[in-house]
Amino acid sequence: MKAFVMEAGQYKLKDMPEPTAQAGDVVVKIRDAGINRRDLGLLKRYGDNPEALIIGSDGAGVVESLGEGVTDFEIGDEVIINPGLRWEHNSDAPPEGFDILGMPDHGTFAEKIAISAQQLEKKPVHLSWEEAGGLALPALTGYRALFTKGQLKKGDTLFIPGAGSGVATFLIQFAKNAGATVIVTSRSEEKLAQAKEIGADIAISTDSDWVKELEGQTIDLVIDSVGGATFNRSLEVLKKGGRIVIFGATTADNVDFNLRSFFYGQYQLFGSTMGSREELRDMIQQIEQHDTHPVIDRVFSLDEAREAFDYLAEGKQFGKVVLRASE
Ligand SMILES: NC(=O)c1ccc[n+]([C@@H]2O[C@H](COP(=O)([O-])OP(=O)(O)OC[C@H]3O[C@@H](n4cnc5c(N)ncnc54)[C@H](OP(=O)(O)O)[C@@H]3O)[C@@H](O)[C@H]2O)c1
Repeated sequence: MKAFVMEAGQYKLKDMPEPTAQAGDVVVKIRDAGINRRDLGLLKRYGDNPEALIIGSDGAGVVESLGEGVTDFEIGDEVIINPGLRWEHNSDAPPEGFDILGMPDHGTFAEKIAISAQQLEKKPVHLSWEEAGGLALPALTGYRALFTKGQLKKGDTLFIPGAGSGVATFLIQFAKNAGATVIVTSRSEEKLAQAKEIGADIAISTDSDWVKELEGQTIDLVIDSVGGATFNRSLEVLKKGGRIVIFGATTADNVDFNLRSFFYGQYQLFGSTMGSREELRDMIQQIEQHDTHPVIDRVFSLDEAREAFDYLAEGKQFGKVVLRASE
């Protein structure tokens, strides 16, 4: 079968053996698979991996065969894949043994995948294939950051630097569903307009003076995944005693910040990553209730995976970039 792999320092399309379902596993024919920034960075982190590894964490498709003992699914069921492996129940941090699908296990950028039935959820019927394929990792990450860690509630004001990121588009939609006011920034005029279209109340340029632009606003919660380029600026606009949640660092992992200002301001800083199966199910229930549709920027075929990676690396997208693995 056709797959997009990481092998000996390169990403490439490769013919890989068809997977078979071992006991407890299901083979899923992948329809669509969302690309995440993590996929772009794997080569740098694990590039010398000599064996071909199918990458990709997100995907949705149709159950094709069942391993021994699988009773929760039937052939033909439409499913989405939970990319968070071995994290079932809510907890302050992922349990020992937690991994993200697509390294070290074979991932979703292929025509088929064999995966534990425990990792599957029924595809929400209101979603198209590309919406379902691009959902799980970014939406789950956003959900945990916003509600479990950020404790967002109705009436709060949320600030998100970098409106166009895959996760940020979910943050905007989820926060609006919850009755919050949402303020975003972007370097692009077009993305600012798109953010407003999906519900952002205020959208300002990343390059503007945030303190001046946001005069009179009380920001209860910041969710910042841009990292070094924005962290200190985000703290500057957060209300005293407010919460800031970090789940990514697109621009830089390291920042200098003033501890004295931080403790005088009594700010609360939280780290977050992905989420548990319980949170995934809560998130799915919420998007069903609110008829929320993931924002899809562009769909590429699996053959065009390299081009899709280059496109995502350029950062021009608003929402998710998805690979179509089969029709
Ligand atoms: N821990 C986890 O479980 C987890 C899960 C998912 C993602 N992540 C991480 O979270 C981050 C976001 O991921 P993503 O895929 O949603 O988005 P992404 O594609 O990494 O988006 C990056 C955003 O950052 C902004 N940005 C990039 N460079 C910037 C700069 N120099 N100055 C200001 N803003 C800049 C862009 O905003 P504009 O283009 O709008 O200006 C863009 O919207 C990534 O670092 C990813 O690795 C972590």
